[in-house]
Amino acid sequence: MTREKPKNLWLSRWGFILAATGSAVGLGNIWKFPYITGEYGGGAFVLMYLACILSIGIPVMMTEIALGRRGRGSPIDAIARVVKENNGNPLWKTVGIMAMLCGFLILCFYVVVAGWAFAYTWKMLDGSLTANSVEALGEVFAAHNANPWQLGGWSVLVSLLTMWIVAKGVQKGIESAVRWMMPGLALMLLVLVGYAFTSGSFAAGFDFLFTFDASKITGEALLAALGHAFFTLSLASGAILVYGSYIPDGQSIARTTFIVAICDTCVALLAGLAIFPVIFANGLSPSSGPGLIFMSLPLAFQQMPFGTAFGALFFAMVSIAALTSAISLAEATVAYLNEKYGISRFKGAVAAGVVLLLLSLLAMLSFNLMAGWTPLGKNLFDWMDYLTSRWMMPLGGIFMVLLAGYALRGDIMRDELSLPPLGYALWLFMVRYVCPVLIMMVFLHALGWLGFDPIAKWYWIAGVIGLLAILGELLRPRVVPALAGR
Ligand code: PFF
Repeated sequence: MTREKPKNLWLSRWGFILAATGSAVGLGNIWKFPYITGEYGGGAFVLMYLACILSIGIPVMMTEIALGRRGRGSPIDAIARVVKENNGNPLWKTVGIMAMLCGFLILCFYVVVAGWAFAYTWKMLDGSLTANSVEALGEVFAAHNANPWQLGGWSVLVSLLTMWIVAKGVQKGIESAVRWMMPGLALMLLVLVGYAFTSGSFAAGFDFLFTFDASKITGEALLAALGHAFFTLSLASGAILVYGSYIPDGQSIARTTFIVAICDTCVALLAGLAIFPVIFANGLSPSSGPGLIFMSLPLAFQQMPFGTAFGALFFAMVSIAALTSAISLAEATVAYLNEKYGISRFKGAVAAGVVLLLLSLLAMLSFNLMAGWTPLGKNLFDWMDYLTSRWMMPLGGIFMVLLAGYALRGDIMRDELSLPPLGYALWLFMVRYVCPVLIMMVFLHALGWLGFDPIAKWYWIAGVIGLLAILGELLRPRVVPALAGR
């Protein structure tokens, strides 16, 4: 069977890297990473997060890009095509459907948070952030959220901007926006880290991020770290798969993946180093939740020369980082509507935009008019975040690696990844044994079915993986003859 021809391609070799980095680097790095690190106690969480990126994030990302490029299309069509090439079960398409739905659901709460960043750019300039204690800044944040018109207005603005850029298309809209933004953001973060260095509590912030305390490794924290690894690398939500489908043949998937993952991790760690010293210097608790950066950073800006300008620039960069991620979240749906039903990108963006406005309204109202409505203990905003990060992304990830590692003929992925033999063997080992087993164990642990103590747990995980690897290698050619010779 011949391979699908690409309809859209990135303009330059750097097109995918820029766009995928634009997708990966976003609110997850600057807003979510610091606040969940704060909630789960610092260094131990950071270590679990880094381990998840290395052992699960990178192999899953390579797999997604390869599936996208092989199938050349929206997540649903790309997976359907690859499975067809393999004469496989069409039900695998469900993985693409789930990824696309997951991406859209993320978008619905993501625009609300992105709206915070946009609003704070404005507030830096109009003098609303001059309060000089974290409590007072916390009140500003609370007042912003209590007003549905204000909160809603900013998130509607983000939704409109996102859909407008997506409607314009891949190259003009996405590629050109990220070209100058990434270096700008990195520079701003370095300035902030430089400031934090002089703030007197740098050592406390550094220790909090990098001091490992084994007692903080809990099943709950591990599940959060895993979910965040997926979230921050934009995995299993359609974005990386659809962007991967625009990569020209011949570009190295492994190299590209490493560049994106390294940039993403550096931005998160820099954000942590910029934020925690300010938090400790001003007596704010690191576990203050989603408002963490909005209550702490304005204080840092007030105290530095040209702080207003820096502050506005910083929140503007965060807004753009959020926008490039939001675009990637919408792209899969618009590409699908275009490919499946022949709906133009413009009309697809309008249709998706209307649904987005309605659903994001629910997320937005969770902070004010519907704040009292917390079915099973969470408001709708929290539910959207929880369901996508904790469940849909890891589950989607498992199915993707199972598809690539077991269900597809060996030559398909080998062709697409074109790795040297050792690299390919390592990838195959990771997607067959390490990723599915680790993700499953984290799930089981979270459900309370595996209750061992933190240290023994690692022996256990290593043991299970080793056993499965040996069994798999022994049984493979007999049980699944089609897999022989991979
Ligand atoms: N990776 C983005 C961030 O860290 O903010 C969020 C995201 C974008 C998640 C795209 C999923 C996705 F498909």
